[in-house]
Amino acid sequence: MWARCAPRPCTPARCWPAATRRCGTSWPKPAARKPTTWPGRQRLRELNDRPSLLNPVWYAGAFAIGYAAGKLGGDRLSLGFVVETENQVEAHLDSHMERLPAGDTASRAIVAQMKDDEVQHARMAERAGAVALPAPVKGLMQLAAKVMTTVAHRV
Ligand SMILES: [Fe+2]
Repeated sequence: MWARCAPRPCTPARCWPAATRRCGTSWPKPAARKPTTWPGRQRLRELNDRPSLLNPVWYAGAFAIGYAAGKLGGDRLSLGFVVETENQVEAHLDSHMERLPAGDTASRAIVAQMKDDEVQHARMAERAGAVALPAPVKGLMQLAAKVMTTVAHRV
């Protein structure tokens, strides 16, 4: 199958690790490989910690809000909730970045990736036609998020 060295340039997904074994070349570990577990969960294990026990509650609540918004206000309102949620999560992740030790590059990389993902989700929802939520709704969401993050920090 791999009779000779892989041609260059070689994409890591195609050549790694087979090319490394056959040719003795050292390819960087492909960043594009899908992790088998969420990196944040792995990092928590490395730090002898765990996700919040209330995660199922948060997921169920988020699903219920999204479902209700879709039923009551349609897709554009539902997308508006997505945009606001992602914006608030992005701000929350910024606060984590400020508190993380500068030397904890592993955690910082995960949070930075999460932040990039959330920004992309928000932009996608905007492009899909999200409506801006009224300020009182945004304020309620911030209040709910504060309760969630405070509780999740302890439970
Ligand atoms: Fe997201």
